[in-house]
Amino acid sequence: MRLDKFLANENIGSRKAVGLLVRSGAVTVNGQAVRKADLQIDAQADCVCVNGTPVRYNAHVYIMLHKPAGVLTATRDSRAQTVLDLLPPAMRRRGLFPAGRLDKDTTGLLILTDDGDYAHRMLAPKSHVIKRYEAVLDLPADGADQARFAAGIQSGDDCFAPARLEICEADPHIVWVEIREGKFHQVKRMFRACGKNVTALKRLSIGTLPLDAALRPGEARVLSEKEAMLVFAGKAEQIRRKE
Ligand code: URA
Repeated sequence: MRLDKFLANENIGSRKAVGLLVRSGAVTVNGQAVRKADLQIDAQADCVCVNGTPVRYNAHVYIMLHKPAGVLTATRDSRAQTVLDLLPPAMRRRGLFPAGRLDKDTTGLLILTDDGDYAHRMLAPKSHVIKRYEAVLDLPADGADQARFAAGIQSGDDCFAPARLEICEADPHIVWVEIREGKFHQVKRMFRACGKNVTALKRLSIGTLPLDAALRPGEARVLSEKEAMLVFAGKAEQIRRKE
């Protein structure tokens, strides 16, 4: 792999910025100062340092995006802006895709990755990964809705597994929902089955990974591998606690 590509992939900077960095003499490969950005390196075996700090090779990248409303969860679209379009150039990598989807009007936590196994595991129904949402409803939620969510909802052809519904005491139009499936329009359809409409929906967490409160809508940051794996953490305990 080219040195500049490696450094850009590891989010040291854009291809152009890392080219300048290499030419400035700030980069060493196996202890030797190098000044050629197109130098071929073995990303797994060679030790690359920037200003003396080793750059770790990550086979995959995991990005947390605070998805704003009005943006499509897709890699590319001829007309609409997609979540991939929101990423700063330094974060873009070939093969990135959204792990799961949020509706165009839904906001909140979305993970983008180039790791197909990770996405598959996160989305597989048998993984029971819990997704937590905050929703605003057109009508106040009540105990009957909570009981229906807790029992699982069967409505027409729709069948949803038990889910947890918390109601805001100060304003019962505001609710928090935890689901462990990821069916199309699931939260909205569950409330429709209870005769209510969701007027705003935001994903707050996946597993034990919360949306970073420092990220404003449209902003993204690279997750450490440890953070990315939090989506799989604590789920058995959560399910036991909530059923
Ligand atoms: N449920 C929905 O209805 N929409 C989303 O975007 C996510 C979950």
